[in-house]
Amino acid sequence: MPERITVKPIAGFCGAEIDGVDLSQPLDDETFEAVQQAFLDHLVIFFRDQNLTPDQQIAFGRRFGELRISDQYQPLDAHPEILEIGKEPDATDIVGNLWHCDESFLERPALGSILYIIECPEFGGDTMFANQYAAYNALSPGMQDMLSSMRAVYSDGTLQQRNKGRSMKVHPDAANRPSYDAVHPVVRIHAQTGRKSLFVHRPYTVRFDGMTADESRPLLEFLYAHASRPEFTCRFRWEKGSVAFWDNRCAQHYALNDYSGVRRYGHRITVIGDVPH
Ligand code: SIN
Repeated sequence: MPERITVKPIAGFCGAEIDGVDLSQPLDDETFEAVQQAFLDHLVIFFRDQNLTPDQQIAFGRRFGELRISDQYQPLDAHPEILEIGKEPDATDIVGNLWHCDESFLERPALGSILYIIECPEFGGDTMFANQYAAYNALSPGMQDMLSSMRAVYSDGTLQQRNKGRSMKVHPDAANRPSYDAVHPVVRIHAQTGRKSLFVHRPYTVRFDGMTADESRPLLEFLYAHASRPEFTCRFRWEKGSVAFWDNRCAQHYALNDYSGVRRYGHRITVIGDVPH
């Protein structure tokens, strides 16, 4: 790793702040390797004091894979790869204020998401992350064994109900397309680390494959609570110019809606992932 780069963990199970990298500049191979290794080791990495144009953020994201153009929310004009993550002072609700992984209703859920915060409250509006390798590892061998052969059904079918109180509105075209539906393993093997993680998410997991929603609910509720146990988490305090890059394959996140009367605004890009196995 280049000497100017430092990687400092912020909690026991996930999250590290990286210093010494300017994301507005093309990354040389050695810097890219260091960033990628920190991402794989810590599941979510943070950078401070960045100053990124949309094109620079997109160029950074493309080092990790193809970017998704969202048809869930209206993207930024002229830069459709960028989602505007925002809460205006008069809004009461936000996007992402429950534990989830991005886009698990797709056949190829997001590999990672990169959020660059441009404006944020003086306090409040933090984001939490939870390590899903740790969640899987902490289950009993009997539960691990049972879950390993199970699959779950995902959907974004409730998207239309999510506009109330939010500044970030659902894409008008989303009403005219069928919902996205997918079936994924409940225990997922990470394509780059080979490690197993728990993969169920409250907003999108509908039921276990082969079971009804009613039959699935008790076990899903247990897994949701287990997945977000405090010791598996870290909490990031945003400042203007902070960037977070999280691995949706093995981490869930939760944006806190604990502020009002002030604006929070940022740009998010989403790197497309593989088909979970
Ligand atoms: C999200 O992408 O789920 C939102 C994260 C945040 O606003 O901190």
